Amino acid sequence: MRPLKDMELSQETIAKIDARVEKYPTKRSAALPLLHLVQEEKGYIPDEAIEWIAKRLELNPINIYEIITFYPMLKRKPMGRKHVRVCRTLSCALRGGYQVCKSLQEQLGCKLDETSANGEFSIEFVECLASCGTAPVIMVNENHHENMDEEKTIALCRELKKNTT
Ligand code: FES
Repeated sequence: MRPLKDMELSQETIAKIDARVEKYPTKRSAALPLLHLVQEEKGYIPDEAIEWIAKRLELNPINIYEIITFYPMLKRKPMGRKHVRVCRTLSCALRGGYQVCKSLQEQLGCKLDETSANGEFSIEFVECLASCGTAPVIMVNENHHENMDEEKTIALCRELKKNTT
C-alpha cells in the first residue's frame, strides 16, 4: 500500500505495518499495533494516519478514532522530544506527586498538558505507572524515575536541559 499522502512513513515502518497486518487473523485486530507504529515514527497520530490505517484495515476512520480516544498513550498532537508523565494516582499523590509536577513545570519552563516553545519538553498527568511502592513516580519517555522529591526533580531537570538539541 502507498505511504500516507502528505505524510511519508519510512520503509522500515511500512514493512513492520505489513508484518503486523499479516500476523492477525482479522485485520481489525492490527489497529492498535499500527497506531503504535505510526506514533513511534511521527511522535503522534496525524489526521491522515487515521484515514490511512482505516483504509489499510478495511475499516471506517471512526473505528480508528474510537481507539485513539480510548487510550491516553495515543497522542493527537506532537509531544516534546522529552515527554514527562507524572503519576497522579493515590500513592503518588499522597507522597508528593503534585509538588513534583509543579517543580517540573517550573524547572523545564513548560506548563502541564503543553509542549515547550522549543519542542523539547511536554508534561502530562497520567494514572498509575505501576510502581506505587516507590511513589512518587514519573516517566521521561520510556524511563521510570522513582521516589521523586524536590532535590531529585531539580537534578533530573538539570540533566534533561543539558541534553537538549
Ligand atoms: S500510584 Fe503512582 S505508580 Fe501507582
